[in-house]
Parts: sequence; C-alpha cells; structure tokens
Amino acid sequence: MTPMSVSPEIRVLDHDQEVAAEAADLFVWLGEQAIRTRANEAEAGRFRVALSGGSTPRLLYQTLAGSPYAKRLDWERVEFYFGDERCVPPDHPDSNFRLAEETLFRQLNIPTERIFRMQGEAEEPERAARDYEALLRKQFSAPAPQWPRFDLILLGLGDDGHIASLFPQSPALEEKTRAVVATWAPQGVRERLTVTLPVINQAQTIVFVVTGARKAAAVRTVLEDQNAIPARYPAKLVQPVGGRLIWFLDRHAAAELRVTKQQVPPEEE
Ligand code: 6PG
Repeated sequence: MTPMSVSPEIRVLDHDQEVAAEAADLFVWLGEQAIRTRANEAEAGRFRVALSGGSTPRLLYQTLAGSPYAKRLDWERVEFYFGDERCVPPDHPDSNFRLAEETLFRQLNIPTERIFRMQGEAEEPERAARDYEALLRKQFSAPAPQWPRFDLILLGLGDDGHIASLFPQSPALEEKTRAVVATWAPQGVRERLTVTLPVINQAQTIVFVVTGARKAAAVRTVLEDQNAIPARYPAKLVQPVGGRLIWFLDRHAAAELRVTKQQVPPEEE
C-alpha cells in the first residue's frame, strides 16, 4: 500500500454552511461538465455520483435540493449511487439511503430508476455486495479487470480516519479485485457494504466534506503526518488515478493543520 502521494486541493471555509455551498457549487459544475463532455455516446449526457453517508452530508444534500442548486443542474441526467451502506432496511434511521431519500431525492423528485442503492436489508451482506458490484459493472460497462469510474465520489472522514466503510486495519483495504465488499465496522451498525479503494481511486473527482472539531486530529494526520501508517488511517490511501482530490473543510476541522492552508481559487465559478 502506497501512502497518499497526490497533493490534494484543500479549501477551508469558515462555517459548515459555506462548506456545503462550495461543495454544491463544485457538484453542479462537475455535473454540467460530465453531461456536456461525455467521453462517448454510450455514456452521453450522464453524471454518475456516489454519495457518502453518516451525518455530515445532510447539509450538502439539503443545499443541493434547495435554491439555487435545484434549478442549476439537469437532475434528470444524474444517476445516484452509494459509496457504502449500513446493513439495515432502507427506512432505518441509520440508512445512508434514507438520509439521501429524505434530504435530496424526494425534494428533487428523483425517480427510483436513477437511484442505485445498496441492499442493506439483504439477509446475506456478501450476496448484496456481489449484486451491487454486478450492477456497477453493468451500469459502467466495466467488466473485470476494468473498474467502474464515477464522475464524482463524495467521502466523509471518520474521526479514526476511515472512509466509506473502510475502517483502520480492515482486510478490505487490501482488496485488489472486488469493487464492492461486505465489511465490519468497529462501532455503530456493525455489518456494512462498501466500495473498495480501487473504485474510489478510479473516480474522476474525489471530494471529502469534513466539518467539526471532532475531525481535526484525523484531518491533520491524514493530510500532514507522513509517519502515520496508512492502514491505520484509510483516508491516506485515497489517491486518484488521474483524477482530482479535493477537501472541503470548515475551520474547526482544519484547526490542527500546520502547513499553509491552500486556498484553491474555485475555478468552477
Ligand atoms: C458512513 C459513512 C462514513 C462517514 C464517516 C463520517 O456510512 O458512516 O460513509 O464513512 O462518512 O463515518 O461520518 P459523520 O459524517 O457522521 O461524521
């Protein structure tokens, strides 16, 4: 495992509302680009995004579903996938699908045929993982050994440095052939489904949205501690293969960063 080597673009904003607005600007800009400049006819006019879970994305999803973003993107061209899911039913309070359903899909009237959720309710998570992998490979016309290539993958950061449901020291961090696996979380809902690092790193753009003082130590370790063991901080293993890596932080989450905080001018505007 090679430690993170791609220099990320870091954008630090004062408050979480500004983080959500900046991330929403980028989301819409990337969507417009994907819809306009699709590589080939087969993928013409689509924007395929993998949503993150947990609590942080709530504000971003509410922002995207509100003014002016609800009118700034041709949402009929957007396909929604998930980076991970808890093994619970889709109407469970801990379901990542339910978060997106309540804050984004319902408001934007996204039809079910453009929402590709992981079957968290499945009796056998391993089967659900294989089914989701098959769905991704079909939707992206990416049979093994190719990888589904998302236009955008949204990620949060656990205070232990985990991403999606890839936790410190997890065997899933070593996965080199599967695109989706069933894993275990050390806390909360134990059984999970998650995309693997090769899928994350293949994305055209990887965006972290991280807010709150609780994440400051993990943010510094991931972004600045060259001695930290990557397997203990899975976010260090996120390095796009040819894509972009952008971090949106509020000042609390960025508080322990020591190097100058790159203020990347948002060229999307
Ligand atoms: C999940 C997420 C997970 C999340 C982090 C941060 O299913 O929980 O995909 O990776 O992004 O745990 O969670 P918070 O946003 O709740 O702090």
